[in-house]
Amino acid sequence: MPILGLGTYILSSSQAEESVYAAFMAGMASIKPAVLQNETHPYYQERGPKAAAAESGTVLESWFPLGGKQDCHTLFADSVISEVAASHGVSPAQALIRWHLQTGNVCIPGSSNPDHIREDANVWDFELAADEMESIDALETGRRLAWY
Ligand SMILES: NC(=O)c1ccc[n+]([C@@H]2O[C@H](COP(=O)([O-])OP(=O)(O)OC[C@H]3O[C@@H](n4cnc5c(N)ncnc54)[C@H](OP(=O)(O)O)[C@@H]3O)[C@@H](O)[C@H]2O)c1
Repeated sequence: MPILGLGTYILSSSQAEESVYAAFMAGMASIKPAVLQNETHPYYQERGPKAAAAESGTVLESWFPLGGKQDCHTLFADSVISEVAASHGVSPAQALIRWHLQTGNVCIPGSSNPDHIREDANVWDFELAADEMESIDALETGRRLAWY
């Protein structure tokens, strides 16, 4: 069977020690994980794991990039995110996706609504300014929106 890619995710420091990523970092595995898929959004940005992964060329892929099914409206209603979105005439979901892309995260939002899917793919004709990126960066609180 051809292998197209290898990814991993880390939920806690104890699981981190057992992960494929940790095995690669310890020299116990030879295939570098292409992505580290962890919960990531403006309230929980995973800067530490992202920086550590980047040292070996592994890219952070956001799970729950919009906050997840239960909590996306928490992020959509955030005043900073909604103001940035309004200033570009786009939806909060589109502003969030641009923030992920511009901060270097792989972002694959989930949706079962064809209009939302089209909207989420339509993020290539605007760009967040540096001060807008900084204002969203400043929303980091360490608040997770999911627990598994
Ligand atoms: N590794 C893991 O354990 C793990 C865990 C969770 C998720 N993931 C991955 O992360 C990705 C996304 O996860 P997710 O779908 O759970 O969370 P998400 O992308 O953060 O949020 C999905 C929610 O956003 C809504 N939404 C999407 N676009 C919208 C728009 N333009 N306007 C309004 N609402 C919008 C969707 O509702 P509608 O359906 O109504 O559009 C849905 O309720 C998936 O690829 C998933 O596989 C991985």
